[in-house]
Amino acid sequence: MKQQLEQIRIAAVAEIEAADTSLEEIRIKYLGKKGELTKILRGMGSLSAEERPVIGAVANEVRNCIESALEVRGAELKKIALARSLEAEKLDVTYDAIDPNAGHIHPITKAMKRMTEIFIDMGFTVAEGPEVETVYNNFDALNAPADHPSRDFQDTFYITENTLLRTQTSPVQIRAMLNNPNPPIRIISPGRVYRSDVADASHSPVFHQLEGLVIDKGITMGDLKGILSTFAKTMFGPETKTRFRPHNFPFTEPSAEVDVSCFVCGGKGCRLCKGEGWMEILGSGMVHPEVLRAGGIDPDVYTGFAFGMGVERVAMVMAGIDDLRLLYENDARFLKQF
Ligand code: DAH
Repeated sequence: MKQQLEQIRIAAVAEIEAADTSLEEIRIKYLGKKGELTKILRGMGSLSAEERPVIGAVANEVRNCIESALEVRGAELKKIALARSLEAEKLDVTYDAIDPNAGHIHPITKAMKRMTEIFIDMGFTVAEGPEVETVYNNFDALNAPADHPSRDFQDTFYITENTLLRTQTSPVQIRAMLNNPNPPIRIISPGRVYRSDVADASHSPVFHQLEGLVIDKGITMGDLKGILSTFAKTMFGPETKTRFRPHNFPFTEPSAEVDVSCFVCGGKGCRLCKGEGWMEILGSGMVHPEVLRAGGIDPDVYTGFAFGMGVERVAMVMAGIDDLRLLYENDARFLKQF
């Protein structure tokens, strides 16, 4: 019997040490109610009174030995299981993140927002007008002569005889005046305009302008120059100079085109300004008396100035590019840079 017990001990310990997952089955096999050790202990009834305590002691020792082997291996298996699950859930924090490819604001929208902000800070409010406009608001009320070339079908998208896709944001001037019969008026109007142009480096059939209109008693060209040079310095940097060149627009008298000193070369001439040192960004002038009248405002009491800025021009200057099409092709590799 002693030998049998010894064999059980050896077999059990060997099995326990080799166990890879659960020890429960082995425990039942040896120590359970119908287990091998129990079976032997049951047979102890047939032993003599002298043998019984001796075998009993050996049996106890075997049980203790199996139990402690189970405990040791149990602890080892727990450690192995932990290591395995850590390995399985291993996280490489140096691995490249997945590019979520988030969209962002288009350079034209960005330029328009920034321009709008600057004028809002100077006390302007934003006025809006429709993209499908009347021929009257887009041309007649703005004092465009009946034979003005811009009225031509080749230059303008007409919807009907009397409506068109606005060619400029200037018709918002008329709407703003009619909506505010009692000046002061101090509005800007950013928006989309249309011309029947073939797309090239400096033309697009759809583009954006930002219109401005200020009307009050005693407004002079000095106010125009002050507002626009403040805008230019805020937009392009404090060193920026402005240059007013005489021009002609039907809706202003006198009129001026406005250039800003190139913010890349500071006026010396470079690739961006094509060696000029200056970049044209807008048209402006004192509102023509006929336009004030069309807006229901008495030109003997009030004067005003207006300006119209090319948003794409400004966006291109900001982005340092010289081809308008880059802004419209929507190549994500290009747009991502801004
Ligand atoms: N509407 C003109 C254009 O599209 C730009 C312009 C020039 C607007 C002078 C004005 C202005 O308000 O006073 O070319």
